Amino acid sequence: MDIDPAIPKSKPSVGGDSNESDNIKTLDTHQQFTQWSDIAHKLEPIDEEYGESEDGSGGTRGAIIHSPQRRIQLARKGLSDYEQRLMGSVVDPQTIPTGFSQVCVKDETVTTLQEIITLPMLRPEYFSKGVLRRYGVSGILLFGPPGTGKTMLAKAVAKESGSVVLNIRASDIYDKYVGEGEKLAEAVFTLARKLAPCVIFIDEVDALFSARSSGEPNKFRRDIMNQIMSEWDGLNTSRKPGVMVMAATNRPFDLDDAILRRLPRRILVDLPGEDDRARILGIHLKGEELDSDVDLKAVAKRTESFSGSDLKNLCVAAAQAALRERVRAEDKSETIKLATRHFDAALKKVSPSSSDQMESLVELRKWDKIYGDGAQERKHKFHSIGFANAAQTSEEEAKPVK
Ligand SMILES: Nc1ncnc2c1ncn2[C@@H]1O[C@H](COP(=O)(O)OP(=O)(O)OP(=O)(O)O)[C@@H](O)[C@H]1O
Ligand SMILES: [Mg+2]
Repeated sequence: MDIDPAIPKSKPSVGGDSNESDNIKTLDTHQQFTQWSDIAHKLEPIDEEYGESEDGSGGTRGAIIHSPQRRIQLARKGLSDYEQRLMGSVVDPQTIPTGFSQVCVKDETVTTLQEIITLPMLRPEYFSKGVLRRYGVSGILLFGPPGTGKTMLAKAVAKESGSVVLNIRASDIYDKYVGEGEKLAEAVFTLARKLAPCVIFIDEVDALFSARSSGEPNKFRRDIMNQIMSEWDGLNTSRKPGVMVMAATNRPFDLDDAILRRLPRRILVDLPGEDDRARILGIHLKGEELDSDVDLKAVAKRTESFSGSDLKNLCVAAAQAALRERVRAEDKSETIKLATRHFDAALKKVSPSSSDQMESLVELRKWDKIYGDGAQERKHKFHSIGFANAAQTSEEEAKPVK
């Protein structure tokens, strides 16, 4: 049997109120990554309460969770035509190059993703009874301005939890023939169950689930959405857990309300602050030779409103400036050294894609305060409970952004 005897059978010290979990709370995020990655590493393969058994009977106690590659291989054996059409969207987490160490976002974002996605994937037994079983979170939405690392985060979560990713785009589901879209929508979930643990990742989710009110005349599109929603609801009642929906968008306000209800945790991945920008520059410049006059903190100060993606473009532009200089000087040395003048040149060419004044960014932050995890801050302003407090909500906050 494929079972690794080194797999820890004891509960991981995350959550709960044991002394062990208290210890974890005092760890910094980097240490938490190491812990989680250690667990993820040891958990493959594992003898667990769910999983597809080799004979295809699946879902029985004691069935094996194989490595992602093996799960993909096994799933291939009994695919319906519709599942087969989706196989091109399946990603083995072991082939994903980016982990949490390459993406710099707020610590709370990473912790939330770990608690909501990684933990249920790695420790399904914690979620097999009680309120967590009945009402487990089956969906999470990452939203924010372009290029802030939403797609990277989804990949990092899958990599860390050893979950196969089913990377779904609107074009995978919408089919020109009536009735085909619903069958494809159903196949997304049946395939995900065969691949479990699996994250169904819907990038640019607004393209798939725009609001009813957006004037979409298509009943056929509506039928597909209904099919997806009913399959999605089935995740909570399924005997076989291990499937989670993760969605990302720049335009959460365009999403259908019914879809939002199924994505109860909504996390804003905002533009990086100054310290984060310095860290992101460090990530992108890893392995580059920097002149002693380069101060990444100073570059971070000069890159207000730059997204992670803009910072990457800045690093590339700086490297190109250095290369240009070397070619002109007919310098034959092997390495290119980046100096402050190269960043100066790059800053003239690369500008931020968003700004704090941009309407879309203002709307995103406002939406976060009303519907996102950021709404917590707003709720904490109220000290007592009851409808009377609604009166304290400012008119602006009370008005939906949609
Ligand atoms: N927080 C970050 N830390 C490190 N690199 C980042 C970060 N955000 C973005 N990048 C860089 O920008 C690239 C694009 O990021 P990504 O595709 O994850 O952004 P996104 O938020 O999904 O954007 P979009 O909304 O346009 O889909 C990444 O490959 C990475 O190199
Ligand atoms: Mg993206």
